[in-house]
Amino acid sequence: MSRTSAALLDQPGRVPRFGELDVPGPAGDQVVIRVAAAPITPLDRLCATGRSYFGVPVTPYVPGVQGVGTVETGPIPAGTTVWFATTAGMQPGDGSMRSVVVADRRDVVELPAGSDPVLIAALGLSAVAAWSAMTGPGGLSAGDRVLVLGAGGVVGQAGLQLARSAGAARVIAAARSAADLDRARRLGADAAVAIEPGDDVDTLAARLIDGAGGPVDLVLDPLFGVPAAAALRTLRPGGRLVNLGSSAGETAPIDSSTVRSRQVQIHGYTNNALTVEQRRAALTHVATEVLGGRLTVDHHRVPLAEVAQVWDRPGSRVVLVP
Ligand SMILES: NC(=O)c1ccc[n+]([C@@H]2O[C@H](COP(=O)([O-])OP(=O)(O)OC[C@H]3O[C@@H](n4cnc5c(N)ncnc54)[C@H](OP(=O)(O)O)[C@@H]3O)[C@@H](O)[C@H]2O)c1
Repeated sequence: MSRTSAALLDQPGRVPRFGELDVPGPAGDQVVIRVAAAPITPLDRLCATGRSYFGVPVTPYVPGVQGVGTVETGPIPAGTTVWFATTAGMQPGDGSMRSVVVADRRDVVELPAGSDPVLIAALGLSAVAAWSAMTGPGGLSAGDRVLVLGAGGVVGQAGLQLARSAGAARVIAAARSAADLDRARRLGADAAVAIEPGDDVDTLAARLIDGAGGPVDLVLDPLFGVPAAAALRTLRPGGRLVNLGSSAGETAPIDSSTVRSRQVQIHGYTNNALTVEQRRAALTHVATEVLGGRLTVDHHRVPLAEVAQVWDRPGSRVVLVP
């Protein structure tokens, strides 16, 4: 058995440390992958706190619910660049933040030749969620007017570009910082609306309606809270809001008159409900968009050895490189 460098979480609520552990041998049709990139995502941080709805993780464990690497051995040809998923932090077992992983074949997706491992890792399941939420419960169609909340985050950046390339007629981005709003415009948003500190629903709704310039068909919502309640007021009758996160609040001050007068549809979305085939198809779409130059995301490449220093770093997505 050989040794591999890894991020190790010793106790829930702590920050992972850099260390070493054994690589288990693969069983059945498992794939041995040399890891090139593993992102630190909100889900990884949440699971590590021990306060996620998956419960307290069994420790010690290697965090990381996804990564990108190169196949060493297994049922996929050696040398193939692949994306892979793990259940680290949600179920007992180790994740992607190590130099070598052993993954189940069903959790491995071959990437198109020429894919950038770090960029795909940065987008990963956040982009899968943005795309699948919009095209699944969100019913995205060409010609739709789409409002993307949290447009500075990875879900938001991916959402606005994927809506654009799917033929949205107008894409409106909403975010907190001027830098995020500028980036959203550069990434193709037709309008960028500020979410200001202390905004109430009336104030933010007025700004969003102004920025939207007409009724919205679909809201992509990784925030909930006041932004989601305000965004509902931009919708046309029968318009859809898909919630997939709660960065701004676990509850939202949604008013009945908005919901019933517009007959809005409010959907919830989780990647965990995707079938393996749906996840594979969504990830493949993401990788194809990246390769076509239509999708990117702000990210930072950091050596795995620095995991403890960057674990809680706010701002653009950190991708650990072993
Ligand atoms: N359902 C699923 O399957 C699924 C999949 C992926 C992600 N998610 C969830 O979706 C959310 C976003 O994920 P992500 O990958 O985009 O995370 P991220 O890159 O960390 O982005 C989070 C975004 O939320 C914004 N934000 C935080 N607090 C806010 C507030 N009070 N008001 C307005 N904006 C606020 C941040 O803006 P600042 O930069 O201004 O702080 C940032 O743009 C997370 O909750 C994540 O867990 C769900």
